[in-house]
Formats: sequence, structure tokens, C-alpha cells
Amino acid sequence: MAILYTVLEDHESASRHVAGLLVETINRHSPDTSGLCTLGLATGSTPLSVYENLCRRYQSGEVSFQGITTFNLDEYVGLPPEHPQSYLAYMRTNLFDHVDLDRSKTHLPAAHQIDDSHSAEAISRRYESEIENAGGIDWQLLGIGVNGHIGFNEPGATIDSPTRLVDLAASTIEANSRFFESTDQVPKQAITMGIGTILKARKIVLLATGAAKAEAVAAAINGPVTSDNPASFLQTHSDVLFVLDREAASAIA
Ligand code: F6R
Repeated sequence: MAILYTVLEDHESASRHVAGLLVETINRHSPDTSGLCTLGLATGSTPLSVYENLCRRYQSGEVSFQGITTFNLDEYVGLPPEHPQSYLAYMRTNLFDHVDLDRSKTHLPAAHQIDDSHSAEAISRRYESEIENAGGIDWQLLGIGVNGHIGFNEPGATIDSPTRLVDLAASTIEANSRFFESTDQVPKQAITMGIGTILKARKIVLLATGAAKAEAVAAAINGPVTSDNPASFLQTHSDVLFVLDREAASAIA
């Protein structure tokens, strides 16, 4: 199945476009209609403007998050939840604390709970069950790594992989070191939804902006379906949209 993509001028217009799609989705599932909507959310630099946009639209009364359930893609292992670079802290700072989401309906993999009596496997399995019990993910937001990773499914990840403990690729640690004082401080592992988990979402929207993502985006869209570029597995899903800016789209044949 060919991946559909749309190209906007720049990062801001691509982010606005994605925020608009999300608002439409949420409003279509408003409490007056089917009531429930489950969103899959991403972190990183790319969706920051999407969340900013959503907060603004919430404040102006265009959208409400009541009745919405969220599941984030991933969480670092080794950071306490209150660490400013944990993905929980990111979500609180950039979205959860500013909108009317019911906190009990927001979920991230509980990577901080890993200890002698809570294995990463058990925590990962619980996350999968929570997603299933919520009725599955209606709308999944993704970013993409320079090596084609989605979530933290690095090259080598298989198409049917579940939520699990993963090692981060050296290029991911390097890319994410911009958020830490030094590369040494970047966690080396994470719990991530698997490719199999992501592909179960009913709709998937991947946002990519900037020239650094151009090769990974082109390989995901035009290249073979291969674990060398985990985003290429999205070609097997029937409802995927890539929202790109000109730079991120520049290598598509
Ligand atoms: C984030 C995630 C990652 C990022 C990717 C791009 O939850 O799962 O796959 O989407 O690393 O990160 P940025 O947007 O910082 O370039």
C-alpha cells in the first residue's frame, strides 16, 4: 500500500496541519457522538508546535480533551518520572498540564518501575493490555528518527514486535544528547510500543520536518519494506499519512 503524503511549506505550517487533523478527530469523537477516542502520542522536538497549537485551540474553546485517552509511544529507562527529560515530564509540560485531559486516562510505559520485582517484560505486557482494554488506538502520531526509527524501534526491529525494552541506537543517543548536558547522561534504553503495536492503530499520521529527515522519509515511502528502515513497515498499513515540510520531502523520488 503506497504511503500518502502531503507537503507543507515549513515546520510551522506542517505542525498546524497535524494539529488541525487532531482537532477534527477529537471533535468527531466528542462526548456527544461516540464519546471515546484514544490517541497515540509522540515526544521529541517535532511535535512541540503541534502540542502548542492544541493548547491554544483548547484555550480558545475549539476543542476539549474530555473523554480522550492517550498512550505515549515510549519512555526512557533510568530516569525518574519527575526528571525534566523524562517523556512524562515532557507531556506534562507541553500538553497534559494545559488542557482538560483526565490524568487517569493518560499513559506512558512505566519504565521507572523496572526493578527486581517488576520486569520490563511484565511492564510492557501490561501496557499492551491497557491499550487493548481501551479499545485500541484510533489515531497515532509519529515522528521519525534520522535512521528511520519510529517510537524507539531502531533498525533491526521486526514488523510484529510488541511493546518491549530496547537498546537505543548510537545515532539516537547522539541525536537526543541535545536535551542533556552530555551524551553520557542520555539513557541507553527505553520501553517502546513495538512496530506491531503501532500498526494496530486505526489511523497513523507521521510528522517529519527538516532536511535531516529527508533520507529516512524517502526510504520509508519509496524504499523496500525492511527492518533497515522501521518506518518502511508503515507501507503495510492501510491508513497512513506523512505530513512533511519541503525539506523533509526533498529526497522523495
Ligand atoms: C518520540 C519518538 C521518536 C521521535 C524521533 C524523532 O516519542 O518515539 O521516534 O519521534 O526520535 O525525534 P525528533 O522529533 O526530536 O527529531
